[in-house]
Amino acid sequence: MSLPEENGWNDFQPLCFYQGFWWHSYFIERALFAQENFKAQPRDIFICSAPKTGTTWLKALTFATLTRTHFRNSPNPLLSKVSHDCMPFMEMDCIENPFIPEKDFPLCATHIPYSSLPKSVIDSGCKIIYICREPKDSFVSLWHHTNKLRPKNNDNISLEEAFELYCNGKSPYGPYWDHALVYWKASLEFPDRLLFLKYEDVMRDTTFYLKKLAEFIGYPFSLQEEKEGELQKVIRLCSFENLSNLEVNKTKKSVFFRKGEVGDWENLLTLEMGERLDKIMEKKLRGSGLTF
Ligand code: A3P
Repeated sequence: MSLPEENGWNDFQPLCFYQGFWWHSYFIERALFAQENFKAQPRDIFICSAPKTGTTWLKALTFATLTRTHFRNSPNPLLSKVSHDCMPFMEMDCIENPFIPEKDFPLCATHIPYSSLPKSVIDSGCKIIYICREPKDSFVSLWHHTNKLRPKNNDNISLEEAFELYCNGKSPYGPYWDHALVYWKASLEFPDRLLFLKYEDVMRDTTFYLKKLAEFIGYPFSLQEEKEGELQKVIRLCSFENLSNLEVNKTKKSVFFRKGEVGDWENLLTLEMGERLDKIMEKKLRGSGLTF
């Protein structure tokens, strides 16, 4: 199959346009496999996002919430593993196992756009939590991340070049606006099945959104737990400060932790660049009810 390609972000792993989105070529085959073979179960919970929108954090919050009683008397795995390693990633791991392993917690993550999810995920009635982030901050995070991961013999992608690609919708799993939009529309259609979160909201009022998340996945914090500070324990465990200072995340996985701030784009983009992206987003999202 020959697909339109874009090498700008990465010559060693081009992006290919498939089913309306730009994918790393490596993942297309795996996503296709998942579409045909993945068997979601009604109890499953999917964590969905575009890259660099707060996925690491949402995975940690969900995992810690779901396992809070399980690990009451033993250390939570989040203290020794990055949250990505606490659950399967559909486009990687489904090739080995088309089910979420029975013995583990029923969590699975993916960057696959809603419109390309395996049919069983939609049909099984399972829960989906989606996180998105203010696009300028997400772009800046993506630019740093891409250059950090680049092999040493490859030149960095310049900010200007990356920005141009991003504004043209050409970013991993982009267009960014369409990724958010398909999940947004599904959340309006199936509010009991899809919880749509924004990084900035969760940052502003983590307690409120964690309670909401816990209720959504069917593991609400009881009044007793609230009194005993269980919510705050989860928030503290998953905080940027705590996770980014753990030995495991300071070394191998440091690429997932940079600043964790809202509004960092101002340190890198010009006002004109910011306005340009704002206008694009406004145009693309107009009438949808989704704003940033
Ligand atoms: P910055 O690059 O702006 O610092 P993802 O997890 O989807 O790859 O997104 C990465 C972004 O989330 C990075 O943003 C990273 O620092 C931030 N992040 C990672 N862990 C976090 C946490 N526990 N709390 C808040 N932000 C976090």
